[in-house]
Amino acid sequence: MTRIAVLGLGAMGSRMAARLLAAGHEVSVFNRTAERGAELESQGARLAASPREAATGAEAVIAMLRDDMASRAVWLDPETGALAGLGEGALAIESSTLTPGWVRDLAPAVAGAGGRFLEAPVAGSRPQAEAGQLIYFLGGAAETVEAARPVLDALGGARHHVGPAGAAAVVKLAVNALFGVQVAAVAEILGLFGKAGLDAEAAAAVLGETPVMSPAAKGAAGLMLAGNYAPLFPIDLVEKDFGYVAEAAAAAGAEMPTAEAVRRVYARAKTEGLGGDNIAGVAKLFA
Ligand SMILES: NC(=O)c1ccc[n+]([C@@H]2O[C@H](COP(=O)([O-])OP(=O)(O)OC[C@H]3O[C@@H](n4cnc5c(N)ncnc54)[C@H](OP(=O)(O)O)[C@@H]3O)[C@@H](O)[C@H]2O)c1
Repeated sequence: MTRIAVLGLGAMGSRMAARLLAAGHEVSVFNRTAERGAELESQGARLAASPREAATGAEAVIAMLRDDMASRAVWLDPETGALAGLGEGALAIESSTLTPGWVRDLAPAVAGAGGRFLEAPVAGSRPQAEAGQLIYFLGGAAETVEAARPVLDALGGARHHVGPAGAAAVVKLAVNALFGVQVAAVAEILGLFGKAGLDAEAAAAVLGETPVMSPAAKGAAGLMLAGNYAPLFPIDLVEKDFGYVAEAAAAAGAEMPTAEAVRRVYARAKTEGLGGDNIAGVAKLFA
């Protein structure tokens, strides 16, 4: 049994904390909106009043927060932040989807506080978090990756060590860009089928018989044809991540004109009130 703190009990963090409890770990949790911790508390978690309190005495601290701003506040606040409570040699595992630039700033801050930093963003959504089948992209020292293995085993089905701190953020943002580009393309193609007078479902099935239709595109088409927009990966977060990939590209001097165009599609979806819909809800723009 390991003492683990989970900071951020949103859709993903709450499920990850539940998995850790079920695996027999001793879990302390923190969430900005404390009420969201009540169910985990009833399952045996200790609800802490601050990230600092949650991190105190933990061998591993996992953050699963919305964005750079949330991550900065939760780790670094001098009074209440997790680093103020981090023990010598404790693992600081940042799993949120963030910019590589912020991750590269956070890593030395953790080291300065005596901790061992691991960047660990994930692919997979709520069902994968619930089932312990997340795919981990890891950035950090090889020995830290190894040390985190017993913790990540309860949460992930695969681990890929992709380089030093910041590298995993680049890979994670690339995964989301590739996914988001495909989903937006499927959305506009289904719109075209409908407006051109085709049976969209039948025409999509034909596309599905060709090698150009990826499993992700097929899945998105199925959700759109069923009108199923219940949130898994909400448009609000998709749009955030397209902003982050643009930021990462600019910092690296890389051009990403396709991602930039698709970013505008999701930004429009958000402006039109679709931010809470699953990514497939982008289809509503073209119906
Ligand atoms: N959903 C997915 O399918 C998915 C898949 C892979 C990765 N991710 C990434 O994983 C992270 C979490 O996603 P999620 O779906 O769990 O998001 P979520 O349900 O929106 O939860 C966001 C969490 O961040 C906290 N938070 C937001 N702003 C904060 C701030 N300024 N200070 C402190 N806490 C703050 C929220 O606290 P409150 O409850 O107080 O608002 C909540 O705990 C994101 O980086 C997301 O991009 C998501």
